[in-house]
Amino acid sequence: METLAPEVLISEEDIALRIEALGNAITEEFQGQEVTIICVLKGAFMFCSDLMKKINLPVKLDFVALSSYGDGTASSGTVKMEMDLSDSIKDKNVIVVEDIVDTGLTIQTLKQTLEARGPKTIKLASLLFKPSRNKHPVNIDYLGFEIQDKFVIGYGLDYAGRYRELPYIGVLNAGN
Ligand code: IMP
Repeated sequence: METLAPEVLISEEDIALRIEALGNAITEEFQGQEVTIICVLKGAFMFCSDLMKKINLPVKLDFVALSSYGDGTASSGTVKMEMDLSDSIKDKNVIVVEDIVDTGLTIQTLKQTLEARGPKTIKLASLLFKPSRNKHPVNIDYLGFEIQDKFVIGYGLDYAGRYRELPYIGVLNAGN
């Protein structure tokens, strides 16, 4: 059976530093206002949790679950909403928190769905972005890191449901 050993691509320390900067930027931009964080499950749960702790504003939290990958490493091309928000976002300052923008299909589809619900503003925070694979342009307002076209795992991101618990972003190498 193939053995897959993760190799560190972005360390826990680098992730923490970057998230602190993103939290500061959000705090500055929304000074004196409340923000509603929408965590895109499952992959963004760890990023979302750490980012919220660095936002010094009144924050509300909601969840949405989407899937486009199944158990593989390539998008199926259709985005399914597995779980919707529990509260209205009408007139709210919404920040969608995503783990990674790859082709952009997932986040573009979600943004269109949420925009139709009448938020005051809608911004996107994504920990990772793979520019070489992007097909559906979306503006990432708060970006953690740009990465090359590699399948990454850890810090919430999975391969076939595994590796989400790793505290760093890694790549899988076959055979070591
Ligand atoms: P997109 O619709 O192609 O932008 O894909 C976005 C979703 O695919 C993300 O929310 C992830 O769940 C998943 N995804 C894309 N690239 C990776 C990766 O390198 N590792 C793990 N999940 C990924």
